[in-house]
Amino acid sequence: MIFVWAEDQQHGIGYQGTLPWHLPADLAFFKKTTTGHTLVSGSRTFASYKKPLPNRKHVVLTNDCETPYPDGVVVLHHVDEVLAYEREHPDETLMISGGAQVFASLLPYVKTLIRTRVAHTFKVDTVMPTIDYTQFELVDSQVRAADDRNPYELTFERWERK
Ligand SMILES: NC(=O)c1ccc[n+]([C@@H]2O[C@H](COP(=O)([O-])OP(=O)(O)OC[C@H]3O[C@@H](n4cnc5c(N)ncnc54)[C@H](OP(=O)(O)O)[C@@H]3O)[C@@H](O)[C@H]2O)c1
Repeated sequence: MIFVWAEDQQHGIGYQGTLPWHLPADLAFFKKTTTGHTLVSGSRTFASYKKPLPNRKHVVLTNDCETPYPDGVVVLHHVDEVLAYEREHPDETLMISGGAQVFASLLPYVKTLIRTRVAHTFKVDTVMPTIDYTQFELVDSQVRAADDRNPYELTFERWERK
């Protein structure tokens, strides 16, 4: 499974149920990276999408057995169910899209990290769990300069578990 997220210079990822920033270049990167794959998200992150994102299968992790989800959304209630889903769907690439609680739950199992670093520090209430990067190798890193619509430099990184 793959983690995909964007973080600021202090590992901040969220504020008041949404992203702390508006960066169309990172949204485009997220769309390109995740299209055609299976997105696994916590109920809070899924709610932040407002509706299922097109051309992606959605798996939502929640303890709640009552709240209905849109047709086609797979609702799971435990990390073990995510691991079973991965085993039973070897043709699907699981892209874990957060948030912090879900990243923390699945950190022992992740093979690939796709991280966007945003060169700024924002007001946040949600931070990425601590990742031991010595267990991973940086295999790709692309810097994108700031521009009018994306006022901070972005670095798109890919790490593979050693
Ligand atoms: N910058 C980024 O790349 C990025 C990525 C994703 C999210 N975010 C931001 O992060 C914030 C949301 O993150 P968050 O950590 O607060 O919430 P989250 O991880 O999206 O969702 C938390 C909820 O998911 C369910 N959940 C999580 N782990 C579970 C487990 N092991 N078993 C069963 N259910 C589990 C629970 O749902 P129930 O309460 O329904 O039981 C929990 O309350 C938002 O601000 C969002 O915009 C940022």
